[in-house]
Amino acid sequence: MLPALKIWALLSVSLCCLSQPAHLKKGFRCPSTCSCSKESVICVGSSYVPRITPNDISSSVVNGTFSEVKEAMFAHMPSLQLLLNSNSLVTIRDDAFSGLSHLEYFIEGNKIETASRFAFKTLRDLTHSLANNNIKALPRDLFSDLDSLIEDLRGNAFECDCHATWLMMWLKNTNATVSEVVCTGPEDMKDKRLNDMTSLHNECISTDFILHQSVMSESLSADTFSYKNDVYVAIAAPSAESCMVFQWDHIEMNFRTYDNITQSIVGCKSVVIQSQVFVIVAQLFGGSHIYKFDEDQSRFSKFQDIEVSKISKPNDTEALQISSDWFFVIADSSKAGLSTLYKWNDKGFYSYQLLHEWYRDTDAEFLDLDGKVRLILVSRSQVPVIYQWSRSSQKFVLQGIPNMEDVVTVKHFWIKEELYLAMTCYIGDSKVLRWGAKQFAEIQALPSRGSMILQPFSFKERSYLALGSDYTFSQIYLWDDDKKVFEHFRGVHPGAALLHCGFHRLQGLH
Ligand SMILES: *[C@@H]1O[C@H](CO)[C@@H](O)[C@H](O)[C@H]1NC(C)=O
Ligand SMILES: *[C@@H]1O[C@H](CO)[C@@H](O)[C@H](O)[C@H]1NC(C)=O
Ligand SMILES: *[C@@H]1O[C@H](CO)[C@@H](O)[C@H](O)[C@H]1NC(C)=O
Ligand SMILES: *[C@@H]1O[C@H](CO)[C@@H](O)[C@H](O)[C@H]1NC(C)=O
Repeated sequence: MLPALKIWALLSVSLCCLSQPAHLKKGFRCPSTCSCSKESVICVGSSYVPRITPNDISSSVVNGTFSEVKEAMFAHMPSLQLLLNSNSLVTIRDDAFSGLSHLEYFIEGNKIETASRFAFKTLRDLTHSLANNNIKALPRDLFSDLDSLIEDLRGNAFECDCHATWLMMWLKNTNATVSEVVCTGPEDMKDKRLNDMTSLHNECISTDFILHQSVMSESLSADTFSYKNDVYVAIAAPSAESCMVFQWDHIEMNFRTYDNITQSIVGCKSVVIQSQVFVIVAQLFGGSHIYKFDEDQSRFSKFQDIEVSKISKPNDTEALQISSDWFFVIADSSKAGLSTLYKWNDKGFYSYQLLHEWYRDTDAEFLDLDGKVRLILVSRSQVPVIYQWSRSSQKFVLQGIPNMEDVVTVKHFWIKEELYLAMTCYIGDSKVLRWGAKQFAEIQALPSRGSMILQPFSFKERSYLALGSDYTFSQIYLWDDDKKVFEHFRGVHPGAALLHCGFHRLQGLH
């Protein structure tokens, strides 16, 4: 028998004694909807959770009209028996039970939809009933810190899709006493017991991201390119003083080391022009260079020095073709520097346009909108700017300024023919913007802590955003087509700073 019945028994006994005078404690007023004795408080139809004192071994609050249990309500209690059945509870705040180590807790017949992962953080010992609520899913590892657990989950609305995989595995392996968990969806799982399942055959199982390969070097950027049916990735690794080029090994199914372009690197960007591969290697202060792939020797050799009189701290390099012409831009992040556009003239790249006197650009992004090429530059110290390519003058002309500040990087992406920007802020909120009639407008803010990249990518017709973090878990968001916003998808272990993704490849790099 689950102990819920025990407490109900206690409640019925106490209710029949209501006529007896209550034993009031010193300095404690028994709330008017309650009946208080030495060891318990019983409230019926209360509109709030009554304050409970440490002497109350058990408390029952039933048929109340409140919808929330607030933070630290019971922080002063060492252990507690609490019955909150048949109220209108929707939310139990994260640390409602902080400080407690032992809890017997019944919230049957409320309207709870989920439990917070942090709800039971300090507890060692929990007897719990969530029966007859409206729970569709529980967060992973909800119970993992507990030493002992008795749990009743009957009468809920569990969705047994891929997100319930952990619960299925946990039900199989746990030592806890747990009721059966009956699925109400998806359609083919209706009325089945999750306890009996061995696998959940939903498609979302395959769309998770797992670490495939790590490169044992810190890196600042990763860039993929294809050349003659092979896929390469060029990784800028300043600590190894190298632009490391890897090639996809079709048999081993991973990237193998291919060549190292050795310099003090901050960025390496690949461009394939007229079936020749170039890698633009940007380095701090000492000038930047272009390397060309030498097919005979199967390695990259130096092709050209880049004229960099106005550049001292390159922070990003992007390449683009406009009609038949090739360009690349270097975003310069030094105070005195000037971001510069270079153009290919069949012999090499030469400096073509100095972009306006702009201090400390951190990222550049080209995009093509309605047949017009635009260039966006962002900076930690100024608002971002958009340039539009003018066909008549064959130059970039300054266009519009989205209302944003302190942007580290900008990336563009398309979802169903709509154009979006992902703008990363180091502190504060990173933003998703959508192109409206004539300008970009914010549609969503994602909290950022030490974020250096908000990288869009798509996989199996789904659109994702990876938000990197220097301090905590990096996060992956998934586009919700109905709500037209990104929903949180999952966290990626701390330390995997997400820097860059190839078209359909996600590089999680140390
Ligand atoms: C709470 O409400 C339900 C439904 O109205 C009722 O059956 C039950 O007796 C009430 N419980 C108490 C303790 O008043
Ligand atoms: C269950 O209990 C056994 C023996 O006490 C222990 O070795 C095991 O790790 C426990 N399993 C879980 C999932 O807690
Ligand atoms: C490139 O450098 C890395 C790290 O220093 C080394 O492990 C690798 O073998 C080198 N690859 C080539 C092709 O030289
Ligand atoms: C690029 O700019 C960011 C933001 O100011 C800075 O943290 C980073 O160190 C810069 N990278 C390089 C290679 O200078």
